[in-house]
Amino acid sequence: MEQWMRQGFHWLAASPSANRMARRWGLRFGAARFVAGETLEKALEVVRDLNHRGLEVTLDHLGESVSDAAEAAEAAQACLDTLEGIERTGVRSHLSVKLTQLGLDIDRSLAEKHVGQILERAGQAGTFVRIDMEDSAHLPATLELFREMRRRHDHVGIVIQAYLYRSEQDLRELEDLGANVRLVKGAYREPPSVAFPDKRDVDQNMKKLIDMHLQSGCYTAVASHDPQILRHTRERVEQWGIPRDRFEFQMLYGIRPDLQRDLVERGYRVRIYVPYGTDWFAYFMRRLAERPANVWFVLKNVGRH
Ligand code: FDA
Repeated sequence: MEQWMRQGFHWLAASPSANRMARRWGLRFGAARFVAGETLEKALEVVRDLNHRGLEVTLDHLGESVSDAAEAAEAAQACLDTLEGIERTGVRSHLSVKLTQLGLDIDRSLAEKHVGQILERAGQAGTFVRIDMEDSAHLPATLELFREMRRRHDHVGIVIQAYLYRSEQDLRELEDLGANVRLVKGAYREPPSVAFPDKRDVDQNMKKLIDMHLQSGCYTAVASHDPQILRHTRERVEQWGIPRDRFEFQMLYGIRPDLQRDLVERGYRVRIYVPYGTDWFAYFMRRLAERPANVWFVLKNVGRH
């Protein structure tokens, strides 16, 4: 049953018509638990509040799988506006971007132009930019573009997904570039030909990648809400004496605020991924796929609309 629900949510996340429809609805069905708001100003208020509570942030202007050049240009402008908003309000926030939102599916050079502009502007503002990792079909182009950007800029990072067999090798190559990497388990629906089908193998690989990257001396962002993974990381950094400015924990807005607070109280750097914008549907569906039990939360909220 759970497996069916996961598949259904992944199917909805990838459906262009469901995404188009949801854009007209406004934030519904409890999506506001995971999405900071539809406007930049609302998101900046949320960032300010998180900062007051000792949390760092990375803002994400929602959107992906753009197939129209004008829409990709609008998305790039929204990222530039986000950078401007961060600078204007003085909040502590990085920026996260998705290459398919910036035109990767239309023309690789278009995505490259947009991400180049964003990195130029971010460099002037002193803001770090991370390129999120999408499904495995987009991985080679994403890594290639990241490598090009990394040669020109220090303030850019990437994501590696522990569910993919190839990630260990990719991480090794990224370490040669001194890359700042966010390690995650992986949020897309992938076939067993490319990804571990068994969750225990994914968890095992996540720990292996965390160990590798911490020992490489590169900056490590451990992005997980899994208490086992958090404990493992804390034990390793303690054991190996990794300074606290060489790594951080990351979690998603609205998920396990108790763990976020606990880590801050222990003196660790914790960054919250804060998505905002009208294109919330695919992101929301992936959060449901990760934890189908969230459906009860959705059903409770349906009655309110
Ligand atoms: P796991 O799925 O094992 O969950 C552990 C526990 O966390 C659960 O038991 C539950 O308590 C809680 N939890 C997890 N997901 C939840 C949810 N949706 N709702 C409520 N509780 C939940 N992926 C990707 O492919 N590319 C990317 O660029 C990113 N970026 C990214 C940034 C940040 C900051 C985070 C935290 C995560 C991502 N991800 C991602 C998503 C990631 O790949 C993964 O799908 C989720 O983090 C869930 O995996 P966990 O490590 O939390 O473990």
